[in-house]
Amino acid sequence: MIPRLGVNIDHVATLRQQRAEIYPEVTRAAEVSLATGAHQITIHLREDRRHIQDSDVPAVHLVCRKFNLPLNLEIGCSDEMVEIASLEKPEWVCLVPEKRQERTTEGGLDVINPQNYSRIKAACDSIKKNSPQTKISLFVEASPEVLKRCITLNADAVEIHTGEYARDALASKDLAPHLKQYREGAQIIKAHGWGYHAGHGLTFDSLEPLLAEKQFEEYNIGHWIVGEALFIGFGHVIKEMLTLMQKYPLEAKS
Ligand code: PXP
Repeated sequence: MIPRLGVNIDHVATLRQQRAEIYPEVTRAAEVSLATGAHQITIHLREDRRHIQDSDVPAVHLVCRKFNLPLNLEIGCSDEMVEIASLEKPEWVCLVPEKRQERTTEGGLDVINPQNYSRIKAACDSIKKNSPQTKISLFVEASPEVLKRCITLNADAVEIHTGEYARDALASKDLAPHLKQYREGAQIIKAHGWGYHAGHGLTFDSLEPLLAEKQFEEYNIGHWIVGEALFIGFGHVIKEMLTLMQKYPLEAKS
C-alpha cells in the first residue's frame, strides 16, 4: 500500500482569478489529477474567495464522485464555512486556521487557547451532526501538547503543517528535529486510531525524507505541483501553438 496523494488545485484557481476568466478550469485539473492516479482532490474555500469560488466546490466534488474518490474541503471554522460543508457533504473536511491578510495558511489550528478550542469543537460537532459521513482532519503543528488536545475532539485525523519543515528543506537545514517530532506525533495519533496526514509547502525533494520515514498515510500537495507543471507542460503547449501557426503561412511579399 502506498501513501495517498491529495492534489491541492487552489493555484489553478489563483491563475484563473488573476484574469477572472473561465480558464484554466479547476474541474479539468481535478479530472487530470484523478485520471493520472491521485487519490483525492483538495481545495480550500477561503473566506475572501481569492482562488476557489463557491461554485467550484460542487463542480469539483462532481468530478471526484465520477472517479469514486474523495473531495477534501479545507475550510476555516466560521459559521459560513461550516454551513457550506454541511450542505456539500464532502468525504473529508480539513479545518484550518484562517487570517484574511496571510499569503497562505500560516501555522496550525490553535487548540490550546480555550476560546479557539470551543470554536473548533463547535465546528467539528456541527459538521458531524449535519453530515455524519464526512470525516474531519485538523490542520495542526506536530507538538505533543497540540496533538493530545486534538484527540479530545470529534474528528478522524490530523494533518501536520509541514511548512516549516519544507522551508528548512529548501534552505538545506537539518531536518532531523522535524522528523523526530513527526515520529513522536505519530505515536500519539495512531494510538488513538486516527489518520496521520501531512501537507503544506512540500516539494519533490522535501517529500522524499518523509516518505522514507513511513509515518504519514496521506500528503496534500499543491503549490509545487502547479509550479512544476508549468515547466513540464510549457514546451508541449508552445509546440501545439506553433503547429497551428504552421497551418496558416503568411503570403509571400511580392
Ligand atoms: N494542506 C493544507 C491544510 C493547506 O492549507 C495547504 C495549502 O492550501 C496544503 C495542504 C497544500 O500546500 P501547498 O500548496 O503548499 O502544497
